[in-house]
Amino acid sequence: MLILGLESSCDETGVALYDTEDGLLAHALHTQVAMHAEYGGVVPELASRDHIRRTLPLLRQVLNQAGRTLEDIDAVGYTQGPGLAGALLVGASIGAALGYALKVPTIGVHHLEGHLLSPLLEPTPPAFPFVALLVSGGHTQLMEVRGVGRYQLLGETLDDAAGEAFDKTAKLLGLGYPGGPALSHLADLGQTGRFKLPRPMLNSGDLNFSFSGLKTAVLTLARNQPDDEQTKADIACAFQEAIVEVLTAKALAALKQTGLGRLVVAGGVGANRLLREKLNAKIVRRGAEVFYPKLEFCTDNGAMIAYAAAQRLKFGTPAVEGFGVRPRWELDELEAVS
Ligand code: KG4
Ligand code: ZN
Repeated sequence: MLILGLESSCDETGVALYDTEDGLLAHALHTQVAMHAEYGGVVPELASRDHIRRTLPLLRQVLNQAGRTLEDIDAVGYTQGPGLAGALLVGASIGAALGYALKVPTIGVHHLEGHLLSPLLEPTPPAFPFVALLVSGGHTQLMEVRGVGRYQLLGETLDDAAGEAFDKTAKLLGLGYPGGPALSHLADLGQTGRFKLPRPMLNSGDLNFSFSGLKTAVLTLARNQPDDEQTKADIACAFQEAIVEVLTAKALAALKQTGLGRLVVAGGVGANRLLREKLNAKIVRRGAEVFYPKLEFCTDNGAMIAYAAAQRLKFGTPAVEGFGVRPRWELDELEAVS
């Protein structure tokens, strides 16, 4: 079966074709970063309008790449939520229109389920069950995953998400939008040990996180330091070390609590080099395994949506009638299918 995946929940238009026999055939992405950079963050109305402009050209591109035509598509998966309502409506209406015209089912995919299952696109995918560390711009969660749709929340952030903390701290340091990758690059130029920032909730005894205080600590620190490039890099380095230490410690604690031996890391912050380095070292020491999606599938993309739709179809999730979107949608509200 050939599944078309459409992602339009925020500032990236992603389109992909996934074949249940042959795997991922083609994918294409348009990022709106340059358009929103001028405003220092995502402008929802501009995001929606751009998704409208980009989706069909990207669809033609992936069909050409895969050597397939519209008529070859057996089902359409689109991101139904969570995300920006207007942006979601673009993918949902195009998905529903295609489904109707081609007389194929349309599957409304949960964006975080897409992220969570994205490491399964890799040549050596993790087997169920596993612990998932979901670290994106909007979410920071630890989940116990026993199958498709069988997700149990173990812990989550009480305030800012990890990606949000990276973005806000980057803004404080004058790095613009989106801040995560820029802050991470700057941190690599910094000197370890010059500054030490708090590790929020490191010893809270549960699997929850809190990152808003870290951003405030950076603000206070930056105000009392000279405004030179090396100082900025050293602050970025201290911030990255603090957040990575907390994420790593809690991910390991989740493995211990569940007794599981596999960790999956997904979402944009999963692209962070230091996080990968620390997790790899600590996980190996414990005799456990860690799995990541390819770097390009850490951030938003159509491939993870096509894949999640394929899994849902395989296990008989009913097709969506009409094209409703769910801008707010908790992952553990999903129905188990495997
Ligand atoms: O998963 P994603 O593409 O979008 C959401 O669903 O939110 O994640 C985007 C987030 C942003 O906050 C971005 O700054 C962060 O992931 N990010 C990073 C890195 N690359 C992206 N954060 C830290 N280090 C990176 N290398
Ligand atoms: Zn995402």
